Amino acid sequence: MRVLVTGGAGYIGSHTCIRLLEAGHEVTVLDNFQNSRPEVLDRVQTITDATLEVLHADVRAPESFTQFMGEWKPEAVVHFAGLKSVNESVEKPAEYYSTNVQGTVNVARAFVEMGGGAFVFSSTAAVYGAEATMPVTENSPTRPVNPYGWSKLMAEQVLKDIHTAHPQLSVALLRYFNPVGAHPSGLIGEDPAGVPANLMPYMARVADGTYPSLKVFGSDYPTADGSGVRDFLHVDDLAESHIVALKSLAGDPGLVTWNVGRGEGVSVFEMVAAFQRVTGRRIPYSVEPRRPGDVAESYADPTEIERATSWRAGRSVDDMVADLWRWQKRSSAD
Ligand code: UD1
Repeated sequence: MRVLVTGGAGYIGSHTCIRLLEAGHEVTVLDNFQNSRPEVLDRVQTITDATLEVLHADVRAPESFTQFMGEWKPEAVVHFAGLKSVNESVEKPAEYYSTNVQGTVNVARAFVEMGGGAFVFSSTAAVYGAEATMPVTENSPTRPVNPYGWSKLMAEQVLKDIHTAHPQLSVALLRYFNPVGAHPSGLIGEDPAGVPANLMPYMARVADGTYPSLKVFGSDYPTADGSGVRDFLHVDDLAESHIVALKSLAGDPGLVTWNVGRGEGVSVFEMVAAFQRVTGRRIPYSVEPRRPGDVAESYADPTEIERATSWRAGRSVDDMVADLWRWQKRSSAD
């Protein structure tokens, strides 16, 4: 298939491009490189020994890609392009709604106007909010607690309504839990600008000596060891889920909403232990107050995607750590 990947130079997008190229699809990446670098796409091509096309364009500006879509006629769109920092979304809500909601309107509209096809959307567990009971199913109440979560939930609604009006647009809404790790080649991975806000990239920088110690935000949660619990999954598993979703929409058009996680809660302290065990590095840490806005635990019921497609996330916590560490060592050597 011809697949347009918006945000394909980003963390999850680039790993998904690898899977798409490996599966033999033709790929064009649409990216404005606001939070990513074009070199990533060179590495994707090195890893796969395949070529992809790049369209330097912006999802907020339909005139930057509509003509291309009309000419190239993608059969599928995987829509990653968006902003994803919870804190930033509180400070700059208009930018989040503009990029994440209006951007989705623009891409979906252009796709429908050229005939439609399969549309896979990068959504998030942040649509569920704080009060969900664990594990979270796709029918758990959606109650986002920040503009980031709202922008993704609103974009989901946009896609549902467009699908209802134009059933030729098939939609998979993939609600990601906590993607971590990197491609096993060590050539691509997560590359946050500045000080990482998320646990795993920060821990990797403690392991390589960039930062002296990890701050564990809260050890008094009502969890087994008191630290926060999350559903971490390997980014390559997450990438694979997009291929699975495309295949499913091709054979059975419609609209699906799927959690993508492992369904297993892993605590911050368990992650620290795994990191030390797998890398042989010591991770000094201090226990700090809870981070505002954090929930005690969040993990998926991932059985719906498995029931529908027989696919499940198979990579272990040790795989996540080993691959993240390989990438961290390589990128800090660059
Ligand atoms: C965050 C976002 C989520 C986004 C996801 C991307 C928030 C509230 N949520 O999820 O919307 O989809 O990243 O992967 O920001 N922790 C520490 N020390 C640190 C960093 C984190 O103890 O230096 C703890 C947190 O308190 C939490 C766990 O590690 O318990 C995971 O945090 P993080 O990696 O930031 O992910 P989430 O907050 O779950």
